[in-house]
Amino acid sequence: MAKSKSVFVCQNCGAESAKWIGKCPACGEWNTYAEEIVHKETTNSTKVPHGFSDVVKQKPQLIKDVAITAEKRIDTTSSEFNRVLGGGLVEGSLVLIGGEPGIGKSTLVLQVALRMKNKRILYASGEESASQLKMRSERIQEAESECYIVSETSLEQIFTHIRNVQPDVVIVDSIQTISTECIDSSPGSITQVRECAVALLRFAKETNIPVILIGHINKDGNIAGPKVLEHIVDAVLQFEGDRHYMYRILRANKNRFGSTDELAIFEMRQNGLREVSNPSELLLSQNQNDLSGMAVAASIEGIRPFLIEIQSLVSTAAYGTPQRSSTGFDSRRLNMLLAVIEKRAGFKLAQKDVFINIAGGLRVNDPGIDIAVLAAVLSSNLDMAINKNICMAGEVGLSGEIRPVARIEQRIGEAEKLGFKKIIIPNYNEKLYKTNNYKIEIQPVRRIEEAFRILFG
Ligand code: TYD
Ligand code: MG
Repeated sequence: MAKSKSVFVCQNCGAESAKWIGKCPACGEWNTYAEEIVHKETTNSTKVPHGFSDVVKQKPQLIKDVAITAEKRIDTTSSEFNRVLGGGLVEGSLVLIGGEPGIGKSTLVLQVALRMKNKRILYASGEESASQLKMRSERIQEAESECYIVSETSLEQIFTHIRNVQPDVVIVDSIQTISTECIDSSPGSITQVRECAVALLRFAKETNIPVILIGHINKDGNIAGPKVLEHIVDAVLQFEGDRHYMYRILRANKNRFGSTDELAIFEMRQNGLREVSNPSELLLSQNQNDLSGMAVAASIEGIRPFLIEIQSLVSTAAYGTPQRSSTGFDSRRLNMLLAVIEKRAGFKLAQKDVFINIAGGLRVNDPGIDIAVLAAVLSSNLDMAINKNICMAGEVGLSGEIRPVARIEQRIGEAEKLGFKKIIIPNYNEKLYKTNNYKIEIQPVRRIEEAFRILFG
Protein backbone atom coordinates (compact mmCIF):
# COMPACT_ATOMS: atom_id res chain seq x y z
CA MET A 1 0.00 0.00 0.00
CA ALA A 2 1.26 3.40 -0.91
CA LYS A 3 1.51 5.66 2.06
CA SER A 4 -0.81 8.60 1.58
CA LYS A 5 -1.08 11.92 3.29
CA SER A 6 -3.51 14.68 2.88
CA VAL A 7 -2.54 18.27 2.34
CA PHE A 8 -4.58 21.40 1.87
CA VAL A 9 -3.73 23.27 -1.28
CA CYS A 10 -4.76 26.78 -2.27
CA GLN A 11 -6.55 26.40 -5.60
CA ASN A 12 -5.59 29.91 -6.53
CA CYS A 13 -1.85 29.97 -6.01
CA GLY A 14 -0.80 26.45 -5.14
CA ALA A 15 0.40 27.18 -1.60
CA GLU A 16 0.24 24.15 0.69
CA SER A 17 -0.70 23.82 4.30
CA ALA A 18 -1.05 20.93 6.72
CA LYS A 19 -4.37 22.31 8.03
CA TRP A 20 -7.32 24.00 6.40
CA ILE A 21 -7.12 27.76 6.57
CA GLY A 22 -9.68 30.33 5.56
CA LYS A 23 -7.43 32.94 4.06
CA CYS A 24 -4.40 32.00 2.04
CA PRO A 25 -1.31 33.63 3.53
CA ALA A 26 0.43 33.49 0.14
CA CYS A 27 -2.09 35.12 -2.18
CA GLY A 28 -4.61 36.59 0.24
CA GLU A 29 -7.64 34.87 -1.31
CA TRP A 30 -10.43 33.55 0.91
CA ASN A 31 -11.81 30.07 0.96
CA THR A 32 -9.50 28.62 -1.64
CA TYR A 33 -8.03 25.71 0.34
CA ALA A 34 -9.11 22.24 -0.69
CA GLU A 35 -7.96 18.91 0.65
CA GLU A 36 -5.90 16.79 -1.69
CA ILE A 37 -4.64 13.28 -1.03
CA VAL A 38 -1.10 12.64 -2.08
CA HIS A 39 0.56 9.23 -2.19
CA LYS A 40 3.90 9.94 -0.69
CA GLU A 41 5.94 7.38 -2.57
CA THR A 42 5.22 8.71 -6.00
CA THR A 43 5.04 12.43 -5.53
CA ASN A 44 8.19 12.79 -3.48
CA SER A 45 10.33 11.85 -6.39
CA THR A 46 7.92 13.22 -9.05
CA LYS A 47 8.58 9.98 -10.85
CA VAL A 48 7.33 9.73 -14.40
CA PRO A 49 4.75 6.98 -14.62
CA HIS A 50 5.84 3.94 -16.61
CA GLY A 51 9.49 4.94 -16.41
CA PHE A 52 10.86 7.35 -18.92
CA SER A 53 13.35 8.07 -16.23
CA ASP A 54 16.34 6.02 -17.36
CA VAL A 55 18.45 9.16 -17.65
CA VAL A 56 22.16 8.98 -18.16
CA LYS A 57 23.69 10.22 -14.95
CA GLN A 58 25.55 13.41 -15.67
CA LYS A 59 28.72 14.86 -14.27
CA PRO A 60 28.90 18.57 -13.42
CA GLN A 61 31.14 20.44 -15.88
CA LEU A 62 33.00 23.69 -15.70
CA ILE A 63 30.97 26.36 -17.46
CA LYS A 64 33.90 27.24 -19.73
CA ASP A 65 34.12 23.65 -20.93
CA VAL A 66 30.46 23.35 -21.84
CA ALA A 67 30.02 23.07 -25.58
CA ILE A 68 27.19 25.08 -27.06
CA THR A 69 24.80 22.94 -29.00
CA ALA A 70 22.34 24.82 -31.14
CA GLU A 71 18.86 23.62 -30.30
CA LYS A 72 17.24 21.67 -33.08
CA ARG A 73 13.97 23.10 -34.25
CA ILE A 74 11.07 21.46 -36.00
CA ASP A 75 9.52 23.52 -38.77
CA THR A 76 5.80 23.74 -38.05
CA THR A 77 5.24 24.98 -41.64
CA SER A 78 3.22 27.86 -40.25
CA SER A 79 5.53 30.84 -40.57
CA GLU A 80 3.57 32.84 -38.02
CA PHE A 81 3.58 30.04 -35.45
CA ASN A 82 7.31 29.47 -36.05
CA ARG A 83 7.95 33.14 -35.56
CA VAL A 84 6.26 33.26 -32.15
CA LEU A 85 8.17 30.16 -31.06
CA GLY A 86 11.40 31.91 -32.03
CA GLY A 87 12.01 30.03 -35.28
CA GLY A 88 10.28 26.67 -34.90
CA LEU A 89 9.39 24.13 -32.27
CA VAL A 90 12.48 23.29 -30.22
CA GLU A 91 13.03 19.58 -29.73
CA GLY A 92 12.36 18.51 -26.18
CA SER A 93 10.54 21.70 -25.28
CA LEU A 94 7.28 22.01 -23.39
CA VAL A 95 5.07 24.73 -24.84
CA LEU A 96 1.89 25.96 -23.20
CA ILE A 97 -0.81 27.67 -25.22
CA GLY A 98 -3.33 29.56 -23.10
CA GLY A 99 -6.48 31.39 -24.01
CA GLU A 100 -10.15 31.92 -23.30
CA PRO A 101 -12.61 29.17 -24.10
CA GLY A 102 -13.73 29.25 -27.71
CA ILE A 103 -10.95 31.50 -28.89
CA GLY A 104 -9.53 28.80 -31.17
CA LYS A 105 -6.72 27.05 -29.27
CA SER A 106 -7.73 23.57 -30.36
CA THR A 107 -8.19 24.76 -33.93
CA LEU A 108 -4.73 26.34 -33.92
CA VAL A 109 -2.87 23.30 -32.65
CA LEU A 110 -4.82 20.84 -34.78
CA GLN A 111 -4.13 22.94 -37.84
CA VAL A 112 -0.44 23.13 -37.01
CA ALA A 113 -0.40 19.39 -36.31
CA LEU A 114 -2.06 18.52 -39.61
CA ARG A 115 0.33 20.68 -41.59
CA MET A 116 3.64 19.43 -40.23
CA LYS A 117 5.07 17.55 -43.16
CA ASN A 118 6.31 13.99 -42.65
CA LYS A 119 5.90 14.14 -38.90
CA ARG A 120 4.08 11.75 -36.69
CA ILE A 121 1.87 13.56 -34.21
CA LEU A 122 -0.07 12.26 -31.24
CA TYR A 123 -2.98 14.51 -30.33
CA ALA A 124 -4.46 13.49 -26.97
CA SER A 125 -7.65 15.33 -26.20
CA GLY A 126 -9.43 15.21 -22.89
CA GLU A 127 -12.07 17.61 -24.13
CA GLU A 128 -13.33 16.23 -27.40
CA SER A 129 -14.06 12.82 -28.85
CA ALA A 130 -12.17 11.47 -31.83
CA SER A 131 -15.13 12.10 -34.12
CA GLN A 132 -15.38 15.73 -32.99
CA LEU A 133 -11.71 16.14 -33.81
CA LYS A 134 -12.28 14.49 -37.15
CA MET A 135 -15.08 16.93 -37.92
CA ARG A 136 -12.79 19.82 -37.08
CA SER A 137 -10.04 18.43 -39.26
CA GLU A 138 -12.50 18.23 -42.16
CA ARG A 139 -13.22 21.93 -41.78
CA ILE A 140 -9.53 22.68 -41.83
CA GLN A 141 -8.88 20.26 -44.69
CA GLU A 142 -5.20 19.77 -44.39
CA ALA A 143 -3.36 16.54 -44.00
CA GLU A 144 0.32 16.48 -44.65
CA SER A 145 1.29 14.83 -41.41
CA GLU A 146 0.59 11.50 -39.86
CA CYS A 147 -1.68 12.66 -37.05
CA TYR A 148 -2.95 10.15 -34.51
CA ILE A 149 -5.88 11.15 -32.36
CA VAL A 150 -6.94 9.76 -29.03
CA SER A 151 -9.57 10.91 -26.59
CA GLU A 152 -7.90 10.33 -23.24
CA THR A 153 -7.80 11.85 -19.79
CA SER A 154 -5.38 9.59 -17.97
CA LEU A 155 -1.75 10.61 -18.01
CA GLU A 156 -0.60 7.01 -17.62
CA GLN A 157 -2.67 6.01 -20.65
CA ILE A 158 -1.25 8.90 -22.64
CA PHE A 159 2.27 7.65 -21.92
CA THR A 160 1.21 4.17 -23.06
CA HIS A 161 -0.15 5.63 -26.31
CA ILE A 162 3.10 7.54 -26.77
CA ARG A 163 5.04 4.32 -26.46
CA ASN A 164 2.82 2.62 -29.02
CA VAL A 165 2.66 5.44 -31.54
CA GLN A 166 6.25 6.74 -31.21
CA PRO A 167 5.32 10.28 -32.23
CA ASP A 168 7.63 13.17 -33.17
CA VAL A 169 5.38 15.70 -31.43
CA VAL A 170 2.86 15.24 -28.62
CA ILE A 171 -0.14 17.51 -28.12
CA VAL A 172 -2.23 17.47 -24.94
CA ASP A 173 -5.56 19.32 -25.00
CA SER A 174 -5.95 20.43 -22.21
CA ILE A 175 -3.68 20.08 -19.18
CA GLN A 176 -6.68 20.78 -16.91
CA THR A 177 -8.57 17.70 -18.12
CA ILE A 178 -5.89 15.08 -17.63
CA SER A 179 -5.00 13.43 -14.36
CA THR A 180 -2.50 11.01 -12.94
CA GLU A 181 -3.35 8.03 -10.76
CA CYS A 182 -0.64 9.04 -8.31
CA ILE A 183 -2.84 11.73 -6.87
CA ASP A 184 -6.40 11.38 -5.67
CA SER A 185 -7.57 14.91 -6.30
CA SER A 186 -9.76 15.74 -9.25
CA PRO A 187 -8.47 16.77 -12.68
CA GLY A 188 -7.83 20.49 -12.92
CA SER A 189 -6.82 20.86 -9.27
CA ILE A 190 -3.50 22.53 -8.66
CA THR A 191 -1.71 19.36 -7.59
CA GLN A 192 -2.95 17.38 -10.61
CA VAL A 193 -2.05 20.12 -13.06
CA ARG A 194 1.40 20.54 -11.57
CA GLU A 195 2.11 16.84 -11.34
CA CYS A 196 0.97 16.13 -14.92
CA ALA A 197 2.94 19.08 -16.27
CA VAL A 198 6.09 17.99 -14.43
CA ALA A 199 5.72 14.44 -15.76
CA LEU A 200 5.28 15.73 -19.31
CA LEU A 201 8.26 18.04 -18.87
CA ARG A 202 10.44 15.13 -17.81
CA PHE A 203 9.20 13.11 -20.72
CA ALA A 204 10.01 15.95 -23.14
CA LYS A 205 13.50 16.50 -21.75
CA GLU A 206 14.39 12.83 -21.60
CA THR A 207 13.14 11.83 -25.02
CA ASN A 208 13.70 15.13 -26.85
CA ILE A 209 10.13 15.00 -28.12
CA PRO A 210 8.39 18.37 -27.95
CA VAL A 211 5.09 18.56 -26.11
CA ILE A 212 2.44 21.20 -26.74
CA LEU A 213 -0.01 21.74 -23.89
CA ILE A 214 -3.24 23.66 -24.06
CA GLY A 215 -4.23 25.47 -20.89
CA HIS A 216 -7.40 27.20 -19.81
CA ILE A 217 -7.31 30.65 -18.40
CA ASN A 218 -9.28 31.82 -15.41
CA LYS A 219 -11.49 34.87 -15.19
CA ASP A 220 -8.57 37.20 -14.49
CA GLY A 221 -6.91 36.13 -17.72
CA ASN A 222 -4.22 34.06 -16.00
CA ILE A 223 -3.56 30.50 -16.95
CA ALA A 224 -5.61 28.39 -14.58
CA GLY A 225 -3.47 26.78 -11.92
CA PRO A 226 -1.62 30.06 -12.17
CA LYS A 227 2.07 30.61 -11.92
CA VAL A 228 2.71 26.95 -11.14
CA LEU A 229 2.36 25.96 -14.78
CA GLU A 230 4.11 28.96 -16.20
CA HIS A 231 7.23 28.21 -14.19
CA ILE A 232 7.37 24.63 -15.35
CA VAL A 233 7.02 25.07 -19.11
CA ASP A 234 9.62 26.44 -21.54
CA ALA A 235 7.30 28.77 -23.38
CA VAL A 236 3.91 30.31 -22.70
CA LEU A 237 1.97 31.48 -25.72
CA GLN A 238 -1.18 33.47 -25.21
CA PHE A 239 -3.90 33.24 -27.82
CA GLU A 240 -6.19 36.21 -27.58
CA GLY A 241 -8.73 38.29 -29.40
CA ASP A 242 -12.35 39.24 -29.23
CA ARG A 243 -14.57 36.27 -29.96
CA HIS A 244 -16.96 38.44 -31.91
CA TYR A 245 -14.27 39.56 -34.27
CA MET A 246 -12.24 37.34 -36.51
CA TYR A 247 -8.72 38.47 -35.62
CA ARG A 248 -6.62 36.57 -33.14
CA ILE A 249 -3.21 37.39 -31.77
CA LEU A 250 -0.75 34.79 -30.60
CA ARG A 251 1.97 36.24 -28.44
CA ALA A 252 4.79 34.78 -26.40
CA ASN A 253 4.60 35.71 -22.72
CA LYS A 254 7.59 33.60 -21.86
CA ASN A 255 10.03 31.87 -24.16
CA ARG A 256 13.24 30.17 -23.10
CA PHE A 257 14.20 29.70 -26.75
CA GLY A 258 13.32 33.02 -28.31
CA SER A 259 12.14 36.56 -27.91
CA THR A 260 8.89 37.48 -26.18
CA ASP A 261 8.46 40.41 -28.52
CA GLU A 262 7.17 38.34 -31.38
CA LEU A 263 3.53 38.02 -32.19
CA ALA A 264 1.44 36.46 -34.89
CA ILE A 265 -1.91 37.51 -36.22
CA PHE A 266 -4.49 35.06 -37.48
CA GLU A 267 -7.92 35.42 -38.94
CA MET A 268 -10.57 32.86 -37.94
CA ARG A 269 -12.34 31.68 -41.06
CA GLN A 270 -14.99 29.08 -41.77
CA ASN A 271 -12.19 26.70 -42.70
CA GLY A 272 -9.73 27.30 -39.93
CA LEU A 273 -7.22 30.00 -39.14
CA ARG A 274 -5.53 31.99 -41.85
CA GLU A 275 -2.20 33.67 -41.23
CA VAL A 276 -2.26 37.41 -41.62
CA SER A 277 1.17 38.43 -42.82
CA ASN A 278 0.29 42.02 -43.54
CA PRO A 279 -1.99 43.14 -40.71
CA SER A 280 -2.07 46.84 -41.55
CA GLU A 281 -4.01 46.39 -44.74
CA LEU A 282 -6.77 44.55 -42.92
CA LEU A 283 -6.92 46.77 -39.89
CA LEU A 284 -7.41 49.95 -41.84
CA SER A 285 -10.99 50.13 -42.98
CA GLN A 286 -11.41 50.40 -46.69
CA ASN A 287 -13.27 53.64 -46.23
CA GLN A 288 -13.00 56.03 -49.14
CA ASN A 289 -14.78 59.03 -47.63
CA ASP A 290 -13.37 61.41 -45.11
CA LEU A 291 -15.24 60.77 -41.89
CA SER A 292 -14.79 62.59 -38.64
CA GLY A 293 -13.71 60.70 -35.52
CA MET A 294 -11.08 58.55 -37.19
CA ALA A 295 -7.33 58.66 -36.82
CA VAL A 296 -4.63 56.24 -37.93
CA ALA A 297 -1.90 55.30 -35.48
CA ALA A 298 1.45 53.85 -36.48
CA SER A 299 1.70 51.27 -33.74
CA ILE A 300 4.11 48.56 -32.67
CA GLU A 301 3.11 45.34 -30.98
CA GLY A 302 6.14 43.38 -29.94
CA ILE A 303 8.50 44.16 -32.74
CA ARG A 304 5.90 44.31 -35.50
CA PRO A 305 4.74 47.60 -36.83
CA PHE A 306 1.18 47.97 -37.97
CA LEU A 307 -1.18 50.76 -38.68
CA ILE A 308 -4.47 50.73 -36.86
CA GLU A 309 -7.49 52.85 -37.07
CA ILE A 310 -8.82 54.50 -33.93
CA GLN A 311 -12.47 55.44 -34.03
CA SER A 312 -14.09 57.81 -31.64
CA LEU A 313 -17.50 59.23 -31.00
CA VAL A 314 -18.06 62.27 -28.84
CA SER A 315 -21.60 63.33 -28.11
CA THR A 316 -23.39 65.44 -25.54
CA ALA A 317 -24.12 63.40 -22.44
CA ALA A 318 -27.78 62.51 -22.26
CA TYR A 319 -27.67 61.89 -18.52
CA GLY A 320 -25.90 63.65 -15.69
CA THR A 321 -22.70 61.65 -15.62
CA PRO A 322 -20.93 61.44 -18.95
CA GLN A 323 -19.91 58.00 -20.12
CA ARG A 324 -16.41 57.05 -21.10
CA SER A 325 -16.04 53.76 -22.77
CA SER A 326 -13.27 52.16 -24.75
CA THR A 327 -12.84 48.90 -26.60
CA GLY A 328 -9.29 47.69 -27.13
CA PHE A 329 -7.74 50.59 -25.24
CA ASP A 330 -7.18 51.01 -21.50
CA SER A 331 -10.08 53.09 -20.20
CA ARG A 332 -8.07 54.59 -17.35
CA ARG A 333 -5.57 55.80 -19.86
CA LEU A 334 -8.41 57.28 -21.91
CA ASN A 335 -9.62 59.24 -18.87
CA MET A 336 -6.12 60.51 -18.29
CA LEU A 337 -5.74 61.60 -21.91
CA LEU A 338 -9.09 63.40 -21.80
CA ALA A 339 -8.00 65.22 -18.67
CA VAL A 340 -4.80 66.26 -20.43
CA ILE A 341 -6.57 67.84 -23.40
CA GLU A 342 -9.08 69.48 -21.14
CA LYS A 343 -6.37 71.07 -19.04
CA ARG A 344 -3.62 71.70 -21.58
CA ALA A 345 -5.47 72.38 -24.78
CA GLY A 346 -8.65 73.87 -23.39
CA PHE A 347 -11.20 71.52 -24.96
CA LYS A 348 -14.29 71.09 -22.82
CA LEU A 349 -15.22 67.45 -22.78
CA ALA A 350 -16.54 67.20 -19.22
CA GLN A 351 -20.17 67.13 -20.34
CA LYS A 352 -19.58 64.80 -23.27
CA ASP A 353 -19.85 61.06 -23.68
CA VAL A 354 -16.65 59.71 -25.22
CA PHE A 355 -16.41 56.33 -26.92
CA ILE A 356 -13.22 54.83 -28.34
CA ASN A 357 -12.95 51.77 -30.49
CA ILE A 358 -9.94 50.11 -32.03
CA ALA A 359 -10.80 48.60 -35.38
CA GLY A 360 -10.65 44.82 -35.72
CA GLY A 361 -11.30 44.01 -32.06
CA LEU A 362 -7.63 44.06 -31.14
CA ARG A 363 -6.28 45.16 -27.78
CA VAL A 364 -3.36 47.50 -28.11
CA ASN A 365 -0.94 48.16 -25.27
CA ASP A 366 1.42 50.44 -27.16
CA PRO A 367 1.43 53.94 -25.57
CA GLY A 368 2.49 55.28 -28.97
CA ILE A 369 -1.14 55.36 -30.05
CA ASP A 370 -2.07 58.04 -27.45
CA ILE A 371 -1.80 60.86 -29.91
CA ALA A 372 -4.07 59.12 -32.41
CA VAL A 373 -6.65 58.47 -29.69
CA LEU A 374 -6.74 62.16 -28.85
CA ALA A 375 -6.82 63.14 -32.51
CA ALA A 376 -9.81 60.86 -33.08
CA VAL A 377 -11.61 62.31 -30.05
CA LEU A 378 -11.06 65.87 -31.21
CA SER A 379 -11.96 65.06 -34.77
CA SER A 380 -15.31 63.74 -33.61
CA ASN A 381 -15.80 66.61 -31.20
CA LEU A 382 -15.11 69.23 -33.86
CA ASP A 383 -16.79 67.12 -36.55
CA MET A 384 -13.78 67.67 -38.76
CA ALA A 385 -12.26 64.76 -40.63
CA ILE A 386 -8.54 64.13 -40.49
CA ASN A 387 -6.80 63.92 -43.84
CA LYS A 388 -6.70 60.26 -44.87
CA ASN A 389 -3.05 60.54 -45.84
CA ILE A 390 -1.81 61.42 -42.37
CA CYS A 391 -0.92 58.97 -39.64
CA MET A 392 0.74 59.51 -36.28
CA ALA A 393 2.73 58.02 -33.42
CA GLY A 394 3.53 59.50 -30.02
CA GLU A 395 2.92 59.01 -26.33
CA VAL A 396 1.18 61.88 -24.56
CA GLY A 397 2.57 62.98 -21.21
CA LEU A 398 0.63 64.58 -18.36
CA SER A 399 1.67 68.09 -19.27
CA GLY A 400 0.63 67.66 -22.88
CA GLU A 401 4.11 66.96 -24.20
CA ILE A 402 4.61 64.34 -26.88
CA ARG A 403 7.01 61.74 -25.57
CA PRO A 404 9.30 59.57 -27.65
CA VAL A 405 8.21 56.12 -28.79
CA ALA A 406 10.13 52.92 -29.46
CA ARG A 407 11.16 51.75 -32.93
CA ILE A 408 10.29 54.93 -34.78
CA GLU A 409 11.99 53.85 -38.00
CA GLN A 410 9.81 50.81 -38.31
CA ARG A 411 6.68 52.88 -37.75
CA ILE A 412 7.71 55.39 -40.40
CA GLY A 413 8.65 52.59 -42.77
CA GLU A 414 5.28 50.88 -42.37
CA ALA A 415 3.40 54.16 -42.92
CA GLU A 416 5.40 54.82 -46.05
CA LYS A 417 4.82 51.31 -47.32
CA LEU A 418 1.08 51.74 -47.02
CA GLY A 419 1.13 54.97 -49.00
CA PHE A 420 0.67 57.59 -46.30
CA LYS A 421 1.94 61.04 -47.25
CA LYS A 422 2.67 62.44 -43.82
CA ILE A 423 3.46 61.08 -40.37
CA ILE A 424 3.45 63.03 -37.12
CA ILE A 425 6.13 61.84 -34.71
CA PRO A 426 7.59 63.03 -31.39
CA ASN A 427 10.27 65.65 -31.71
CA TYR A 428 12.58 63.68 -29.44
CA ASN A 429 12.60 60.85 -31.93
CA GLU A 430 13.82 63.08 -34.72
CA LYS A 431 17.51 62.41 -34.30
CA LEU A 432 16.94 58.69 -34.27
CA TYR A 433 16.43 58.23 -37.97
CA LYS A 434 18.13 59.35 -41.13
CA THR A 435 15.94 62.02 -42.64
CA ASN A 436 16.67 61.59 -46.32
CA ASN A 437 15.75 57.96 -46.46
CA TYR A 438 12.02 58.49 -46.63
CA LYS A 439 9.63 59.73 -49.27
CA ILE A 440 6.95 60.28 -46.64
CA GLU A 441 6.85 63.74 -45.06
CA ILE A 442 7.88 63.59 -41.42
CA GLN A 443 6.43 66.14 -39.06
CA PRO A 444 8.03 66.21 -35.60
CA VAL A 445 5.94 67.80 -32.82
CA ARG A 446 6.69 68.74 -29.23
CA ARG A 447 3.22 69.25 -27.80
CA ILE A 448 -0.32 68.09 -28.53
CA GLU A 449 -1.37 71.62 -29.50
CA GLU A 450 1.17 71.55 -32.33
CA ALA A 451 -0.20 68.25 -33.57
CA PHE A 452 -3.77 69.55 -33.46
CA ARG A 453 -2.77 72.66 -35.44
CA ILE A 454 -1.36 70.42 -38.17
CA LEU A 455 -4.42 68.20 -38.22
CA PHE A 456 -7.23 70.73 -37.86
CA GLY A 457 -5.61 73.97 -39.07
P1 TYD B 1 -11.90 25.98 -30.59
O1 TYD B 1 -10.62 25.68 -31.27
O2 TYD B 1 -12.75 24.86 -30.18
O3 TYD B 1 -11.62 26.89 -29.32
P2 TYD B 1 -10.90 26.51 -27.94
O4 TYD B 1 -10.17 25.21 -28.10
O5 TYD B 1 -9.98 27.68 -27.66
O6 TYD B 1 -11.97 26.44 -26.90
O7 TYD B 1 -12.67 26.93 -31.62
C1 TYD B 1 -13.71 27.73 -31.24
C2 TYD B 1 -14.45 28.48 -32.30
O8 TYD B 1 -13.87 28.58 -33.57
C3 TYD B 1 -15.78 27.84 -32.50
O9 TYD B 1 -16.75 28.71 -31.95
C4 TYD B 1 -15.96 27.69 -33.96
C5 TYD B 1 -14.87 28.50 -34.55
N1 TYD B 1 -14.31 27.90 -35.77
C6 TYD B 1 -14.34 28.61 -36.96
O10 TYD B 1 -14.85 29.72 -37.05
N2 TYD B 1 -13.77 28.05 -38.08
C7 TYD B 1 -13.18 26.82 -38.05
O11 TYD B 1 -12.67 26.34 -39.07
C8 TYD B 1 -13.15 26.10 -36.81
C9 TYD B 1 -12.52 24.73 -36.73
C10 TYD B 1 -13.72 26.68 -35.69
MG1 MG C 1 -10.56 23.37 -27.16
